[in-house]
Amino acid sequence: MIIPTFLKWAGGKRRLISQIDPHLPKKINRYFEPFLGGGAMFFYIKQKYSPKYCMISDINKDLIETYKTIRDNPKELIKKLKYFKKNNSEEFYYQVRKKFNAKKFKGIRKSAAFIYLNKTCFNGLYRVNSQGEFNVPCGKYKNPEIFNEKTILLASKLLKEVKIKCCDYELIKDRVRKNDFVYLDPCYDPLKKTSFANYTPTRFSDEDNYRLADFVLILKKKKAKILFSNNITKNVKRLYPKKDFDRIIVYCSRSINCNSQERGLISEFLIKNYKEEKCHIS
Ligand SMILES: C[S@@+](CC[C@H](N)C(=O)[O-])C[C@H]1O[C@@H](n2cnc3c(N)ncnc32)[C@H](O)[C@@H]1O
Repeated sequence: MIIPTFLKWAGGKRRLISQIDPHLPKKINRYFEPFLGGGAMFFYIKQKYSPKYCMISDINKDLIETYKTIRDNPKELIKKLKYFKKNNSEEFYYQVRKKFNAKKFKGIRKSAAFIYLNKTCFNGLYRVNSQGEFNVPCGKYKNPEIFNEKTILLASKLLKEVKIKCCDYELIKDRVRKNDFVYLDPCYDPLKKTSFANYTPTRFSDEDNYRLADFVLILKKKKAKILFSNNITKNVKRLYPKKDFDRIIVYCSRSINCNSQERGLISEFLIKNYKEEKCHIS
């Protein structure tokens, strides 16, 4: 199966899918993914299960606008991306970054600039400062791919009929019903205070983790099926106790991380509240 992710995103799940797959429900009729990021899980689930209803969302406005552009105007987007690719250079990168932060790009051009910056920036690391400005330096790539026409067209096809929203994750709670499947991939509870979490101008704090645990509890009470990725920390163990959740350990390599100690093979939790699959539980 081709997973048409068109962005590099910290925490991307593409390489974890084979370990997550055995823990997915047998059937998925309605799918929610409120921390969408690069969207690898969505593209996998859409192709494997063809859910009747999908709602994907993220709080990052530029990211969500880009998903909508891919869904609605893929061919125009490809034309604009060709322009960015043709002109790629270090000098051009900084011109585009300045214009992007000054909000000079609109509509489809803005989405093309977003993809261009994401694919040519240092380490493929989407990061903003406290003013919400994209502040990543230019990467050292000889010939970056930037985009692949087939990937964009396939992503567009899979996004048709999908609800795409820019919102806080909590806003989905009224839409979720019994047996709906919700995959949660939030900014992780940090292993260290310096761990990466700057997808948005404000970091994911301890209070955010408690708010998220309350949200998970609401979904659990509604009898939705919840699958949830996070770091193995004391906080996470306490918030999602074994008596209420299955906690599976999976292994991932974290290549996008400014802290070299957090690169390499790392174990993390896959937490779930449903029992129908055969799986190895920690
Ligand atoms: C770990 S990343 C998700 C990675 C993603 N699953 C992937 O495969 O690339 C976390 C995402 O949560 C989003 N996010 C952070 N706070 C949020 C909030 N309060 N509500 C919704 N999304 C949020 C970030 O913008 C980021 O895209």
